[in-house]
Amino acid sequence: MTGGSGRLGRSVVRVLAEAGHDVVSIDRAGAEGLPARQLQIDLLDAAATREAFADLAPDAVVHLAAIAVPGSRPDAEIFDVNTRLMWNVLDAVLAAGVGALLVASSPTVIGYGAPHGWEPAYLPLDEAHPIAPWTGYAASKVAIEEIVRMAVRRDGDRARFGVFRPCFVIAPEEWTGAPTQQGHTIVERLADPALSAVALFNYVDARDAGDFVAAWLARAGEVPNGEVFFVGAADAMVEQPTAEALATHVPALAPAAAQLAGSEPVFSSARAERLLGWRARRSWRTELHSAPPADPIRTAEEAPHA
Ligand SMILES: NC(=O)c1ccc[n+]([C@@H]2O[C@H](COP(=O)([O-])OP(=O)(O)OC[C@H]3O[C@@H](n4cnc5c(N)ncnc54)[C@H](O)[C@@H]3O)[C@@H](O)[C@H]2O)c1
Repeated sequence: MTGGSGRLGRSVVRVLAEAGHDVVSIDRAGAEGLPARQLQIDLLDAAATREAFADLAPDAVVHLAAIAVPGSRPDAEIFDVNTRLMWNVLDAVLAAGVGALLVASSPTVIGYGAPHGWEPAYLPLDEAHPIAPWTGYAASKVAIEEIVRMAVRRDGDRARFGVFRPCFVIAPEEWTGAPTQQGHTIVERLADPALSAVALFNYVDARDAGDFVAAWLARAGEVPNGEVFFVGAADAMVEQPTAEALATHVPALAPAAAQLAGSEPVFSSARAERLLGWRARRSWRTELHSAPPADPIRTAEEAPHA
């Protein structure tokens, strides 16, 4: 796993470890309490990445490491770093003879929220929907998906490749008040739907995303090589019916939104369910008021006395 210390990675590591995988996290940052061996390596260092993968000789690699927040750095830097990380990981995977590589893309490749307007071809959005990136981050994810397709054509006889587009990731501690990636709490996001409207109310519990990764690893040989999957919750993160909330907060989507029933999410994960038998089990409706998660894992920066 690359990026195992991150918001998503910490839960994926835990899910995989609990499922009996022998997980090693490679991340520039350390995380306290991660149930995995950790190697602190800068994956922008191609030689160090190659050496680490050759030493570990893993059965599979899950690549999450990235600059994960659009706009958090200049576009050129995000594009450069994210694509370089992908090249370095792909190169190290092939050199080490790894049999499977799953990489994280993003729903932002679709293009919603573009400053000069965006309308879907249809709703709910699925993996066949046209893409239209408008940030350096989304463009980096399009490039990463294209690099995976390239690898399938070139190296598809020696490895299985997959891409997943996790929706807005909610780590377990965020259900009990820790800030989400955008800084607001879940309660604040629900109280002010405009906050989630920018991402069309998409989200996924990080543990459900971990279950998706486990499902892909188990069945990578059975699904089309290079397949792309949306990975989202089975409902939208808004109290109103989804169509009503879209009509209020993203009026351009109102006509297409009429296709959505009840709390149906804008992003469909039907492909993951059909091909991998995966479906998100957690919803804000159940998780928000459940007991606090035991033993939250923190990165070194987040730890209170670090
Ligand atoms: N969080 C979301 O809502 C979301 C949604 C869609 C896609 N994604 C994607 O999922 C992946 C994980 O996202 P996240 O939210 O956990 O991000 P995060 O920033 O919390 O974690 C990313 C991790 O990658 C590590 N990393 C970054 N550059 C590195 C480098 N050069 N060498 C080694 N490690 C490095 C960081 O230290 C960090 O621990 C990313 O690829 C992101 O683009 C996230």
